[in-house]
Amino acid sequence: MATQVILDAPAKLNLTLDIKGKRPDGYHELETVMHQISLADKITITQIPEGIEVTSNCPELPAGEGNLAYKAARTILDKHPGQGGVAIHIEKAIPIGAGLAGGSTDAAAVLKGINGLYKLNLSPRQLMSLALEIGSDVPFCLQGGTALARGRGEKLESLPLNMNFHFLLVKPSFSVSTAEVYGQFDLSKVKQKPDTRRFLEGWHHCDIISVCHAMENVLETVTAVRYPEIESIKKRLVKLGALKALMSGSGPTVFGLFRDKASARQAWFDFPAGKEKVFLVTSYDGRKANGRETSATGKPGIL
Ligand code: C5P
Repeated sequence: MATQVILDAPAKLNLTLDIKGKRPDGYHELETVMHQISLADKITITQIPEGIEVTSNCPELPAGEGNLAYKAARTILDKHPGQGGVAIHIEKAIPIGAGLAGGSTDAAAVLKGINGLYKLNLSPRQLMSLALEIGSDVPFCLQGGTALARGRGEKLESLPLNMNFHFLLVKPSFSVSTAEVYGQFDLSKVKQKPDTRRFLEGWHHCDIISVCHAMENVLETVTAVRYPEIESIKKRLVKLGALKALMSGSGPTVFGLFRDKASARQAWFDFPAGKEKVFLVTSYDGRKANGRETSATGKPGIL
């Protein structure tokens, strides 16, 4: 019987992000296209007799309740008492506080991993409901691929991956708090909204130009106004050949979408070395993360 699973936990980009208004529960009503990319953490989950232990290669990552992977393990094991415990090792590749759902994707991998390891046989629906208890981005991370998300982020409409995109990601040296960014969001300050309908039409017709024209992120009205560096990175990416440059989620990571692999690669070489972290990534198709083949257990949906 398996006593350990190893899973890839891919990051996401928001290709569009629109906010329709504030909800009675304090959250915001979203309409956003989320897209998994090949930048991924590696999660190793091992059965232990009891308790939850979290270790990581990243010293800044909290080991207890403040870590979404811990919270995921606690949530699923508390609801299924009588099982053993888990030791979770997180090999972090996704920057923290970056707008790339690094914590949420680790949490999704832990839910999937524990469900398989302890043969809990939870249905996708049951896992989705646990995922939403942990955070708004966790249901998407659990489902994977590309999806149009509404509600808090949990109403998911899967989009087929007809194109393989090439991105350059630039993570500034600072991080932002998602709660603070949403807290400062003011709908009246929004001048450019994404055109979600045009995005979807372009997506279904593999028309990258239409897709790019339709992409916007309304949270730039908070984060990019507070940090002018974001606008300057966007301009640099466009100068280096990006068809579109946009902030992901609440930021501060900015990504450039390129026509093909060669132009993204060229921009990666040409991006001047500085304080920022730069990543050359593609759409995640379940097979390759961080430039390596994933292990059999790392394929989404196998557990
Ligand atoms: O759900 P999660 O804890 O990941 O969300 C982090 C913060 O982002 C929330 O506390 C909330 O302030 C904000 N948020 C929101 N509306 C959403 C998702 C997140 O206001 N749909």
